[in-house]
Amino acid sequence: MLRGLVTCIGIAVILTHLGRLVLVLGYFKTIHNHRPGPCRVVDGIDVGSEDITVSSDGLAFISSGIRGKNYYSDPRLVPPFLEGKISLFDFNHPENNAMELPLKGHFDRENFHPHGISLYEDPKTGERRLFAVNHHRTTDEDRVEIFRFDDKARSLNHLKTVTGKNMYSVNDVVAIGPDAFYFTNDLYFVKNWLRELEGLSLVSWGTVGFYNNGEDRIVASGFRFSNGVNVSPDGRYLYVAQPTAGSIVVLEIKKDNSLEKKQTILVHTGVDNIEVDQQTGDLWLGCHPVLHLLIDHTKNITNPAGSHVLRVHFESKSAPYEKVDIRQVFMDDGNMVSGASSASYYDNKLLVGTVIHKMAYCEIKAF
Ligand SMILES: *[C@@H]1O[C@H](CO)[C@@H](O)[C@H](O)[C@H]1NC(C)=O
Repeated sequence: MLRGLVTCIGIAVILTHLGRLVLVLGYFKTIHNHRPGPCRVVDGIDVGSEDITVSSDGLAFISSGIRGKNYYSDPRLVPPFLEGKISLFDFNHPENNAMELPLKGHFDRENFHPHGISLYEDPKTGERRLFAVNHHRTTDEDRVEIFRFDDKARSLNHLKTVTGKNMYSVNDVVAIGPDAFYFTNDLYFVKNWLRELEGLSLVSWGTVGFYNNGEDRIVASGFRFSNGVNVSPDGRYLYVAQPTAGSIVVLEIKKDNSLEKKQTILVHTGVDNIEVDQQTGDLWLGCHPVLHLLIDHTKNITNPAGSHVLRVHFESKSAPYEKVDIRQVFMDDGNMVSGASSASYYDNKLLVGTVIHKMAYCEIKAF
């Protein structure tokens, strides 16, 4: 009798979890192509444009050559095919392609494989610093590399490498000062099969950390695969993407840089990186509409995975936001760009970046 009951409950739990996985991984979802205007693939970006961030004057920085913490198993995703680099695309001259930025200074260039990036434009000095999450190849250690952008020479000069005991599975970074940033740890585990198991078990063991001037600490936890992170233009709120929950968590930034959860916004798609329009405060989301296709794509980059871009507009300035307008801007079945991870907006123009594929540019006429 008791054994029968336990067996029944066990089967029910397993079936419920499988049902959730079917929904989370996007089986039964259909992708229809949708463009906001004319779009093209930008030449010169071939092994990803995982994260894109745009300066106030329309310069887009692009990270390529991500070395996922062992979970991208396509055998081609190794050097020299997979070269880590940062490129620049000028939204003011969109007819041009992206150009690779020389990386100068003393740092381990060979083992540089960037993931999330963030640009800090110092309002006092005008200095621009690029922060890049680096999954260092030979040590497997996660680091954040900080560069100074040299406008005239169009190059990045390495300033420092940041590591920390709370930086173990870093996905993205957002700078809030010349030497201060928030970062996400997407999962708890750092090894291949344990990460897959953790991801598929849909537990919420992701965290957000804060680094300031030599010290790092965890400031929020309980995220399901905390991925992209960004901050509102007024610096009051932090946004954290949860792809396997199809949502964005809004947190208030306190005076001591701790965080308080305010709201969860459901977007029903695998949201990866978040860009913030500095003028309007709108969020631009690069998303994976069908996650099981993304998994197939990372195992063999020939397999197409969908790409999805949403724009989130808030009517009010304070969270919890009452009216949230979520619009689809772009959707692709993977034949143009596979596995969209970032969307960057400037002056009615859009770049769509991908984890390990190409990058698209679109004029925005209407959406
Ligand atoms: C990837 O898939 C393509 C098409 O199905 C196949 O031809 C190719 O051999 C695969 N490559 C790898 C590395 O598995």
